[in-house]
Amino acid sequence: MSATVTGAVGSSLRRIEGREKVTGTARYAYEYDPDDVAYAVLVQAAIARGEVRGVDVSRALALPGVLAVIWAGNAHRLAQDTQGELAVLQSPRVAYRGQIVAVVVADSQETARQAQALLKIDYAAESHDVLLREDHPGLYKPDKVNPAFATDTDRGDFEAAFGEAAVTVEETYRTPAMHNNPMEPHATIAVWQGDDGLILYDSNQGSSSVRQVVAKTFELDPERVHVIAPHVGGGFGSKGQPRPTVVATVMAAKVARRPVKMAVTRQQMFSLTGYRTPTIQRLRLGAGSDGRLVAIGHEVYEQSSTVQEFAEQTAVGTRMMYACANARTSHRLVRLDLPTPSWMRAPGECPGMYALESALDELAIACGIDPVALRVLNDPERDPENGREFSSRNLVACLQEGAERFGWDRRDPTPGVRRDGRWLYGTGMASSTYPANRQPSQAIARVSDEGRFTIEIAAADIGTGARTVLTQIAADALEVDSGRIEVKIGDSDLPQAMLAGGSMGTTSWGTAVIGVCAKLRELIADRIPAGGAEAHFDTAEDVEQQPELSRHSFGAQFIEVRVDVDSAEVQVARALGVFAAGRIINPITARSQFIGGMTMGIGMALHEQSVLDPEFGDYVNHDFAGYHIPTCADIEEVAAIWIDEHDSRVNPLGAKGIGEIGIVGTAAAVANAVHHATGVRIRELPIVPSKLVSRLS
Ligand code: MOS
Repeated sequence: MSATVTGAVGSSLRRIEGREKVTGTARYAYEYDPDDVAYAVLVQAAIARGEVRGVDVSRALALPGVLAVIWAGNAHRLAQDTQGELAVLQSPRVAYRGQIVAVVVADSQETARQAQALLKIDYAAESHDVLLREDHPGLYKPDKVNPAFATDTDRGDFEAAFGEAAVTVEETYRTPAMHNNPMEPHATIAVWQGDDGLILYDSNQGSSSVRQVVAKTFELDPERVHVIAPHVGGGFGSKGQPRPTVVATVMAAKVARRPVKMAVTRQQMFSLTGYRTPTIQRLRLGAGSDGRLVAIGHEVYEQSSTVQEFAEQTAVGTRMMYACANARTSHRLVRLDLPTPSWMRAPGECPGMYALESALDELAIACGIDPVALRVLNDPERDPENGREFSSRNLVACLQEGAERFGWDRRDPTPGVRRDGRWLYGTGMASSTYPANRQPSQAIARVSDEGRFTIEIAAADIGTGARTVLTQIAADALEVDSGRIEVKIGDSDLPQAMLAGGSMGTTSWGTAVIGVCAKLRELIADRIPAGGAEAHFDTAEDVEQQPELSRHSFGAQFIEVRVDVDSAEVQVARALGVFAAGRIINPITARSQFIGGMTMGIGMALHEQSVLDPEFGDYVNHDFAGYHIPTCADIEEVAAIWIDEHDSRVNPLGAKGIGEIGIVGTAAAVANAVHHATGVRIRELPIVPSKLVSRLS
């Protein structure tokens, strides 16, 4: 590969589909229009636990235009081993409020909704349990945490070291449930091709994995399942795996014997498409009076549902972040009568680093050491958990660059002393990290007689710019102008590929694209043969043969807040993120990922929370009026820059993946800044005025 000839990688190529998107011609899942289409509406449980004894469908079916009402009493039997959330209508059991208990199919959306209102569902309600507590009797130790990390770790002698430490911090931090809210809610159109074939227009993060799961669930040959998703309006993890909504739509189309459209409503996203588990995190840090860590303890309590286990890997960042001989981490889970949590941008690192980086701020104060200096002091040579070499680790460079640009050296550490009129000012910082992995992917490259190139890979562009960066990667690998290359993605008929998740999209797909382009170049080294040429490539074995290294991105975030002394409103006046995330393929799209993540992190710090009503048995805020995400008015200045890093030991691209690291650490930096501004430490997100107002003197 020669990166220098065309110089596409590293350049600010504009989004290839940008024009289609702004002119409204880019088609999203719900906008496809198959002939004779019918509409499905998902009916949700009105109890949190119990059973559906029966559904009186007579009035609904009498309505002209209603095609079917499906419920546990008449539903299609899915493959025997279908489990968890995907076992839609396979049992009369209700595991949580909002679960799908029926599907109405009609020839219009309005009729389907009207019919829904006419259903009489007879429930046998049972008492429910929805409250996560660190002393819940149902807590247990899962076998592993997402996706396959050890549940607990223990190195050195934590108790002894913590007991003898000169300085200690022992605090509990809490994060609420949070719901993924991409701009485009989930949507699916299912079109059966006879009894054994299926076309799905579906909003997802990976058409290959949707095909596999749907084929298995409906006992179809995967070759006969075609998933089409060229444009996706965000996912943040919630579209990483097919949701029960997909299964319900496929079922509805089977019963109606017509193509069926289904759009998840914004309200339904608060029950049916996953969410971030709430966490209770007990942190115990021990250090010498010089600030060197001698003991780190991180105990996590979190929830799953009764239908499926999802154990978030909340403490994994703590295991590798800082040099410390004695460290213990654990995860305990309780099964509650609530939906199953799932992936939400940086699952694990995001809530876990909030707690760790808050505790480190408290430790810095207890030791009388600057928080940036504390992190530099404890930067490890090797991965402290497994002794492995880091493929590259530039946390210190991020900390120093950020401190300098932010003006950190002028900071007076005394809390609560900077006031201008009604506003108290303060600054805070935190570190960021995220793993830099990749997964097997395949690609095909073609060249035509005329010298036009086509790259095919079932990658997904969920708004990240994937199509654009793959074009840049191919341009350099082929040493041709990007204008001669078309990258085809978002279709399960293309070569199998990793989903857009775990910040592994670009690295997984890019490695396959580089490989396939090299192969094609060999074929056309002398000249393009008559009729063109085609090359195939698979990174499967190569992923397994990677050397044992610790591969992570790092970053440092600096935040300035102002806090209204009367109302306790917190505003983020300034946010700066500095990242060391390998080679940056496209500065425009990369910046969007970083500042998007940071903005979501500010939302986590100040706004986002799904509010549980224990009596009702559900989260009660089901829309943007009640569930607050940052708007433009909440975000003043968010800047992201990066350290030049080309890590050839993570992949031939030298890139580490950037979709998630931007949200990691932001909330801690905000909370630390709020403490600096006010002298008040809030250990439970979000930092809403009601938690702060009575504590401002
Ligand atoms: Mo991301 S939460 O791994 O899609």
